[in-house]
Amino acid sequence: MLPDDFSALIQARRSVRDFRPDEVPAEVLDAILDDARHAPSWSNTRPYCVALATGDRLVRLREAYVHAFDESIPLQRRDPVAMAKAALTGGLPDGDFKTWGRYPDDLRPRSVKVGVGLYQHLGIARDDLAARDAQARHNCEFFGAPAVLLVFVHDGLLPFSAHDAGLMLQTLMLAAQARGVDSCALGVLATWRSPAESEFVIPPHYKLITGLALGYRSEDPVNDFRAEHPPLQLIDPR
Ligand SMILES: Cc1cc2nc3c(=O)[nH]c(=O)nc-3n(C[C@H](O)[C@H](O)[C@H](O)COP(=O)(O)O)c2cc1C
Repeated sequence: MLPDDFSALIQARRSVRDFRPDEVPAEVLDAILDDARHAPSWSNTRPYCVALATGDRLVRLREAYVHAFDESIPLQRRDPVAMAKAALTGGLPDGDFKTWGRYPDDLRPRSVKVGVGLYQHLGIARDDLAARDAQARHNCEFFGAPAVLLVFVHDGLLPFSAHDAGLMLQTLMLAAQARGVDSCALGVLATWRSPAESEFVIPPHYKLITGLALGYRSEDPVNDFRAEHPPLQLIDPR
């Protein structure tokens, strides 16, 4: 493969946020997972594991995530009564990592930019809570994808296990791209662990860090959105 072809592959991958229902053939999924095993890892520990849901399991998982999402809407709005009630009754999201925290001040503008850009692209006004909820809920529907991966990292080797899972995931997304399979990482799924627990025997020490939708992009305009990719931040030499 020529370097330009590799650059083109990398640049062709982008987050797809609406999928056609068409299944990804099992042998294509197998080939993508097989490529991902060639990612490097800290001392070759491969400190992560993945769960793959398709078919009926995916349908159940999606229902559980949508239910969890809908239950959490008052919490997302920071409704103090709902927060206090949830804290008392154990109704807070049960994710292994906190996904809702405020971003560091220097990173927050980047996150706001992509979020605002996406909602503007979709024509969703800031005060249109119903439309915002529907778009956020679509994340928990895996954007309609026919396959979803859940990625777990070993809690005894953090932060390196999270780092290595990232290397594996980008390898996997590019392996998918090379086969015409689109993807979108779904960090939002890490907000809740219980839906994953209901469907998979998760080994001890493994924590849910992100999901990943896999499938074929639809014609929905959401897929025309482009996030910016400015040059890497290079630190000045002394
Ligand atoms: C670990 C991880 C989790 C992500 N979680 C979500 C998510 O929950 N929902 C979503 O719409 N995009 C999610 N994204 C996609 C990012 O927003 C996207 O990668 C970024 O805006 C750059 O756009 P691009 O992927 O199209 O290049 C996630 C990306 C990563 C790497």
